Amino acid sequence: MDRWVGKVAIVTGASSGIGAATVQALARAGMIVVGLARRAERVEELRKTLPPDVGRRVHAYRCDVTSEESIVNTFATIDRQLGGVHVLINNAGVSKLTCTLLTPGNAEDLRTVMDTNVMGLVLCTREAFQSMKRRQIAGHIVNINSILGHKYVPFPNLNIYMASKYAVTAITETLRNDLRNEGTKVKVTSISPGVVRTEMVPEGKQFQDTPMLEAEDIVGAILYALGTPAHVQVHEVIIKPVGEMA
Ligand SMILES: NC(=O)c1ccc[n+]([C@@H]2O[C@H](COP(=O)([O-])OP(=O)(O)OC[C@H]3O[C@@H](n4cnc5c(N)ncnc54)[C@H](OP(=O)(O)O)[C@@H]3O)[C@@H](O)[C@H]2O)c1
Repeated sequence: MDRWVGKVAIVTGASSGIGAATVQALARAGMIVVGLARRAERVEELRKTLPPDVGRRVHAYRCDVTSEESIVNTFATIDRQLGGVHVLINNAGVSKLTCTLLTPGNAEDLRTVMDTNVMGLVLCTREAFQSMKRRQIAGHIVNINSILGHKYVPFPNLNIYMASKYAVTAITETLRNDLRNEGTKVKVTSISPGVVRTEMVPEGKQFQDTPMLEAEDIVGAILYALGTPAHVQVHEVIIKPVGEMA
């Protein structure tokens, strides 16, 4: 991770779960970390729990990734205040386990999932890439995908979530091609976890016997991908807890 020390990382969905754990790990590794979330106050609270020399490198910015205006304004502010983006962790994501694809009145929930998991990721990537391009940064974009982005699992009420993650798989490879065609050395990595113990996973009987990963397990994969030499690109990492059936 030495080449990233003092460089800027943006983590979307930094107020909880995998994103919050990633903010801490990247700041501890010496990066300047901008944690984005609608609940930016949670990122600020997290910052205060860190040792002062680490917390000093964490910045909390409010950003709603379903809003293009919010993304464009936030990335412009970061560029102005902290300089160019070196690393983007596209982590913000939602599932709405409220309905099937056939349930009347489901459009709002389905749109929220697609706007967050797909369009949010694409637009954050576009803004981060423009910053990298302006400053000729050979950066790294990490997309937090899912095993559900690779394989159909008949889980009830997943509705459009799986499609959103299949889209992340396709978008990662499209980006890889676009980045090559732009003549850049920017890397893109997809990290696809099985079930992770976070606020996204509902509490209760449904998951009580399900083996789960911890957010730190996913952070380990992010650090591995970021830590590879400049000429090495980790394309895809699939991580499951031992004993997971899917
Ligand atoms: N948990 C799992 O089993 C699992 C498995 C595979 C993949 N994943 C993926 O891992 C990623 C992180 O999920 P998690 O498990 O850590 O869930 P989580 O604890 O619920 O965290 C989700 C994060 O996304 C942010 N977010 C949601 N909507 C947003 C919006 N419109 N604008 C900005 N930020 C938004 C939330 O922040 P605010 O609400 O404060 O905005 C929160 O920080 C997601 O992409 C998820 O699909 C999770």
